[in-house]
Amino acid sequence: MKITSKELRQKWISFYESKGHTDIGAVSLIGDGSTGVMFNVAGMQPLMPYLLGKKHPAGKRLCNVQGCMRTVDIDSVGDASHFTFFEMMGNWSLGDYFKKEKTAWTFELLTKVFGLDKDKLCTTVFEGNESAPRDDETANLVIALGIKPEHVFYLPQTDNWWELEGTVGTPCGPDNEWFYPLDTEKENPVFPDDYIEIGNDVYMQYKKTAAGYEPLENKNVDTGFGFDRMLLFLNGLSDGYLTDLFLPVVHELERLSGKSYAAGGEAQRAMRIIADHTRTTVMLVGDENGILPSNTGAGYILRRLMRRAIRYCKSLGVPSDAMCACAKIFIEQVYDEAYPLLKDKEAYILEEIGKEAERFETTLAQGMKEFEKCVQGLERKNAFMAQSNPEYSKETVIGGKQAFRLYDTYGFPLELTQELAAERDLSVDTVGFDAAFREHQEKSRVLPAGQFKGGLESHSDMAVKYHTATHLLNAALKAVLSPDVNQKGSNITDERMRFDFNFPRPMTAEEIAATEKLVNEKIKEDIPVVFKEMSLEQAREERFVGVFDAKYGDTVKTYSVGDFSKEMCGGPHVERTGVLGTFKIVKEQSSSAGVRRIKAVLE
Ligand code: ALA
Repeated sequence: MKITSKELRQKWISFYESKGHTDIGAVSLIGDGSTGVMFNVAGMQPLMPYLLGKKHPAGKRLCNVQGCMRTVDIDSVGDASHFTFFEMMGNWSLGDYFKKEKTAWTFELLTKVFGLDKDKLCTTVFEGNESAPRDDETANLVIALGIKPEHVFYLPQTDNWWELEGTVGTPCGPDNEWFYPLDTEKENPVFPDDYIEIGNDVYMQYKKTAAGYEPLENKNVDTGFGFDRMLLFLNGLSDGYLTDLFLPVVHELERLSGKSYAAGGEAQRAMRIIADHTRTTVMLVGDENGILPSNTGAGYILRRLMRRAIRYCKSLGVPSDAMCACAKIFIEQVYDEAYPLLKDKEAYILEEIGKEAERFETTLAQGMKEFEKCVQGLERKNAFMAQSNPEYSKETVIGGKQAFRLYDTYGFPLELTQELAAERDLSVDTVGFDAAFREHQEKSRVLPAGQFKGGLESHSDMAVKYHTATHLLNAALKAVLSPDVNQKGSNITDERMRFDFNFPRPMTAEEIAATEKLVNEKIKEDIPVVFKEMSLEQAREERFVGVFDAKYGDTVKTYSVGDFSKEMCGGPHVERTGVLGTFKIVKEQSSSAGVRRIKAVLE
């Protein structure tokens, strides 16, 4: 290795510290729900209020290496360069320095610290449109620094403008992107074909509104360089799984399976998927606001990742314990220094991986049989039809109802069924799946499309009452403890409700009493529970809370209890709070690090 991951972290931070920045460290990977984005997708996300003008306690020059997650590319994981978790090396100016200093520092870091050849660097700037002018200033600055003028390209908003997609009220602006040839030995590399992006400096000076963009008072800089990608590239590698972030895990999978990674093919793909998804699982479960696999929201994404990894353990021919073995390596060897919390939570993380593997393995084998039946059913039908009609063209689509049954009864995420189908040159009728989903939803009057049951195990009258009580409790905790309290999970039976939320310490007896009192007041007020469907954007503007992924449809279902509680939720709920009876907290305990759990009953 020319540069190890530990050295790269250190170099980034010390370079920016030498330019007056404070290392603010990484924060939770899990978004706080305020922007409607479930996970941090960029290092700037937790800094949003400060980019919009709030004073940061650590000053105006900040830097860190921040864990991020992007699940849009999940299907591409398995190739050499896609990951669901990655880290972003960042630095920020909060209304302090701007283009002149930033271009100079990026140039210095790339050419002096990392030793890149200035004559090979290419860079792109914003070409301008009706919202913001053409960025000649940045172009002139980089040329003055020594970038060849013919290596500076003007590109439109689709390329050189950075914003958090699907959000409003968030900071954004034109960016300056930096590129280097992937194959550093290649003679006369051509942009963009031979180049990869290594990072970008965003000049965040606008706020995204529903109508367009408005200038911010502060001119900020938001820099993001991909840590995993830089590591790959600075080591002259083209396969991300060969950096020291993954190599020990790849070796472990080779040892367990007796197969060679370098031989390529299906075994290599399986190793990559297991390695990537296990790393993300470790990061999500071991996070300070750690989550667990579930059937809804962020927990569902985690479940998808874990189940996909478990399935690939099967195809690689290793037991699903292999995930635990890999997790141990990430925790103890790879991320031990950067994420010490993982070590503290090691036993818990390994146990939860084991539990999910056990849960899925009980239905996986049966589900696979069920899937085989679907395929055989199609083959029989095709053979039969072909006999009576030689012109008959084969049916290659697995029915939506069948896919829904695999999902509902055997816990197969739709995406898993699609993958299995693709391996047999078949596809899945996703429209039919959605229809079966909606039918089921209407029957039980639950759930936004794309999600499993929201912690509701049955839909008896009692469970519905508990569901509404959950909303009241959520709002009461925000009022009594802190507006930063967020729901982390819930579980309802006919007898009781359980509610998990982020909070750093046990609640005092007074806080428990005040929470109970507030919920009971709202019950006494007999407030109507109002259901409304609206656009995601409107729901956000009206400050409905909820865990959801921006990709789930454009309209969301919302329930409000006066001004007290506003949540995005699939329901069902009672019509008025008065029917709930008396709310009583029977237990308040720790659930996992930073997460508390309340058990409560309605009497
Ligand atoms: N926010 C910018 C990015 O994510 C730096 O690339």
